[in-house]
Amino acid sequence: MKQVLIVDDEADMALAIKESLKRCGFASSVCSHPREALNEVNLTDFSLIITDMKMPHMNGLEFLKEIRKRGIFTPVIVITGYGTVENAVDAMKLGATDYIMKPFSFDSLRRVIERILPSEDADIVAVSPQMKNLMSIIREVAKSDITVLLSGESGTGKEVVAKAIYKNSIRADKPFVALNCAAISESLLEAELFGHEKGAFTGATDKRLGKFELANKGTLLLDEVSEMSVPLQAKLLRAIQEREIDRIGGRSPVPIDVRIIATTNRDLLSEVKKGRFREDLYYRLNVFPIKLPPLRERKEDIMPLTEFFVKKLSQKMGRAFQLSEGFKTYILSRAWEGNVRELENFIYRTAVISMSEVLMFPTNEVNSLMQASNTGYSESAGAFNSGVPGKSQTFRGDNNGVPKKSQTFRGDNSGRIKDMERDLIINTLKETVGNKTKAAQLLGVTVRTIRNKIKEYNISEEELRLRG
Ligand SMILES: Nc1ncnc2c1ncn2[C@@H]1O[C@H](COP(=O)(O)OP(=O)(O)OP(=O)(O)O)[C@@H](O)[C@H]1O
Ligand SMILES: [Mg+2]
Repeated sequence: MKQVLIVDDEADMALAIKESLKRCGFASSVCSHPREALNEVNLTDFSLIITDMKMPHMNGLEFLKEIRKRGIFTPVIVITGYGTVENAVDAMKLGATDYIMKPFSFDSLRRVIERILPSEDADIVAVSPQMKNLMSIIREVAKSDITVLLSGESGTGKEVVAKAIYKNSIRADKPFVALNCAAISESLLEAELFGHEKGAFTGATDKRLGKFELANKGTLLLDEVSEMSVPLQAKLLRAIQEREIDRIGGRSPVPIDVRIIATTNRDLLSEVKKGRFREDLYYRLNVFPIKLPPLRERKEDIMPLTEFFVKKLSQKMGRAFQLSEGFKTYILSRAWEGNVRELENFIYRTAVISMSEVLMFPTNEVNSLMQASNTGYSESAGAFNSGVPGKSQTFRGDNNGVPKKSQTFRGDNSGRIKDMERDLIINTLKETVGNKTKAAQLLGVTVRTIRNKIKEYNISEEELRLRG
């Protein structure tokens, strides 16, 4: 349950807020003095702080300033009783996430809270100081319409962050359209971006809207923007600058209103220096840069992410997976060069081939099977991708015939998973020269499970010999 800290010297008021929060599903602690609250924030990881402005000894603004100075980036709502707008503006300048004027209703408080703690907290694991700081920046940045450039190694979570920005923005009820610039050929990319008129080129049998127009009034994610060719970069620049696009074969420009979020896993500035990326476009995109740190630089996130994925997977598969101590040690010892995506895929693979609900330290056997089963794995497309080319995606509204991105936890890999499980059992039995008890020990399951699986998968003595 999310914990909220209420800082208010008026006991009745604090109690009323506490009651309101309870109805929203939050647990809360009350501090009647800001100094007491300063101790409290060091001890508990609050999801939200609600502080009154006027308090003795230290007012709400001073309190806010102090916690930000200490590097605590928990969202803060300031309650201003003496309704001056200046106070509210000052609070926002000091890093308050929002403010609320006295007197206020339960509903207005709930609305403010829902704006601050929406789904992004449920979707994004952010435990390390770097990620917490980033989340507070994201909340701020989401409020404005500013262009954001997300950079970071592959698999660090650029796309999830882009979606969080969108979900928290004023454009949240408008479309979110994503285009992976690396996944499509240059000629197709132009049509994807700007659309085309009927007959614009061979094969253009119908008029088609591009992503810019599909995203109109909403948000356009230009994924891996560094992969765009220089001539196309010029067209993109024009679209952003002039706020209008030219459909291929179109007679007149079409006005567009989109918020742009771009991602790159290359260092765009060095691409500029190498002449591969237009400098003017770089400055147009790099209005608000956010860099996602690699997982190895925020080790505090590894276990919470693992638990998050295990929980998600348990729900999906209807099993109650747990982590053995050995497994945890193993997870923490790995470098995760492929970042969060590699970790997620690893847990997924381990879980689907685990016959036990307790995820064990992977034996060499499991590891080698995992390597072998990597044939369908691609870094950029994620594990077990079913062969959908590219990730070009419309998340809302018209999908334009583009297949939906293969979700990491899709259910239709069961055939493949069964093959993997079958192979695992055969390989283990081979290793133990057919000894089912030993095989069961190696795999962390009961002998009975092994017998059942042999039956289920029709594994014959002969096959074991042949494979051996
Ligand atoms: N902080 C996080 N909390 C929960 N899940 C995360 C987090 N970061 C990343 N993920 C998950 O990890 C996977 C990879 O994330 P994402 O696709 O956003 O990375 P990326 O930086 O865009 O990678 P690439 O550069 O390869 O496109 C996704 O399945 C995403 O849901
Ligand atoms: Mg991405």
